[in-house]
Amino acid sequence: MDESSLISHEAYGRDIVGVLISRHRIAARLDELAKCITETYPEGELTIVAALTGAMIFLSDLIRRLPLRLRLDVVRVSSYPHRATASREPSVPIASAGDLPGRHVLVVDDILDTGKTLELIRGLVLSAGAASARTCVLMSKRRDDLPARVAADFVGFDIEDQFVVGYGLDYGDLYRNLPDICLLRELAGGNGR
Ligand code: IMP
Ligand code: MG
Repeated sequence: MDESSLISHEAYGRDIVGVLISRHRIAARLDELAKCITETYPEGELTIVAALTGAMIFLSDLIRRLPLRLRLDVVRVSSYPHRATASREPSVPIASAGDLPGRHVLVVDDILDTGKTLELIRGLVLSAGAASARTCVLMSKRRDDLPARVAADFVGFDIEDQFVVGYGLDYGDLYRNLPDICLLRELAGGNGR
């Protein structure tokens, strides 16, 4: 656990047990990730399709590091009903990306768990006629119980199978505004699965 940064949001009081990934580590890793992504698209053009709401902060920090001719679209996918910590079947996006035929697309999400969300969006993007569809997540959870799970093409951090909040990720719609990736006291040591 990264103890180097202090929890700055008093509003959450004792809910947070600690920082797993500090804002400083996130920023440093995003520089590396952005470099890899930029090098992967030598043609200099990219369309990002991002999953809301969790990827919002990651997305905004990432795209400002990408010196590409970039188009952005978002889809809204819901896989965690209120206060659930184990993902369900993701439901179909209520808004879908527009002008995709022939475009190179990068699907961006906050975290890879079962992989269903990314696969759902990737499938939609490909069936909309995209020339390519790669995937990028800030975090990928270790899931030894899912050996056939798809891997993302770009991963910021590999983490243990634990429930995390902050930097866009929520639990019961709270904690998205924490600047660091944090662990909740209530769920520490388990994933609720
Ligand atoms: P998957 O479809 O099982 O891969 O689940 C991915 C989605 O579940 C992500 O888009 C997140 O919104 C959500 N999710 C998975 N793990 C966590 C977590 O630890 N904290 C918050 N949201 C999570
Ligand atoms: Mg999500």
